[in-house]
Amino acid sequence: MFNDIPAPVLLTMQELEKIDRQDRVDGTARLQRLRQIPPETGRFICLLAASSPEGSWIEIGTSAGYSTLWLALAGRERGRTITTFEIMASKSQLARNTFAAAGVDDVVDLVQDDFLTYVDRLGDIGFCFLDAEKEAYQACYEAVVPRLVPGGLLVADNAISHQDALTPMLHAALEDPRVDAVVVPIGKGELVCRKR
Ligand SMILES: C[S@@+](CC[C@H](N)C(=O)[O-])C[C@H]1O[C@@H](n2cnc3c(N)ncnc32)[C@H](O)[C@@H]1O
Repeated sequence: MFNDIPAPVLLTMQELEKIDRQDRVDGTARLQRLRQIPPETGRFICLLAASSPEGSWIEIGTSAGYSTLWLALAGRERGRTITTFEIMASKSQLARNTFAAAGVDDVVDLVQDDFLTYVDRLGDIGFCFLDAEKEAYQACYEAVVPRLVPGGLLVADNAISHQDALTPMLHAALEDPRVDAVVVPIGKGELVCRKR
């Protein structure tokens, strides 16, 4: 997957990495910043998605679609579609542009909505990447875990960078008898939960 990334995907990833780097130093307002995962986290979630069992693939928090591009690599490998949720109209438009430029429209389904208002329409979940506002993590976790198939994976970003804000949710996940969970020190720290 990583040694033969299609040129349009690679170029789009590089362009988004440049914008994200610039955002972090030029005073762009927080809500406008792309706030992307770093590439090593992209590789990590791509490998986990590619290794997940049956069930739908979802992403909560698309921004401009950088992390979705990594999941799209796994989607191509496995013949699967990623449904990605973005609440902001402006970010959704950026993501649409990203998916068109990268040529991944056929494996990505963008839903412009609050994940929490949409979740009841979802069936069984095989893989979920959670990267939304930290205040929503606990509610997203509680919405996703019951829908995970056995062996299904929930990966949550910022488990180390935002450890203080996420302590109650991290503690609940690490003690949750429904899942086996671990925090992996890659990128900003990934909470990985596997449904028992
Ligand atoms: C950290 S950014 C996502 C970055 C993206 N995953 C990446 O690495 O390229 C978080 C995004 O989640 C969106 N968001 C926040 N709460 C949401 C919700 N309840 N449903 C859908 N999107 C949400 C925000 O608008 C923001 O664009």
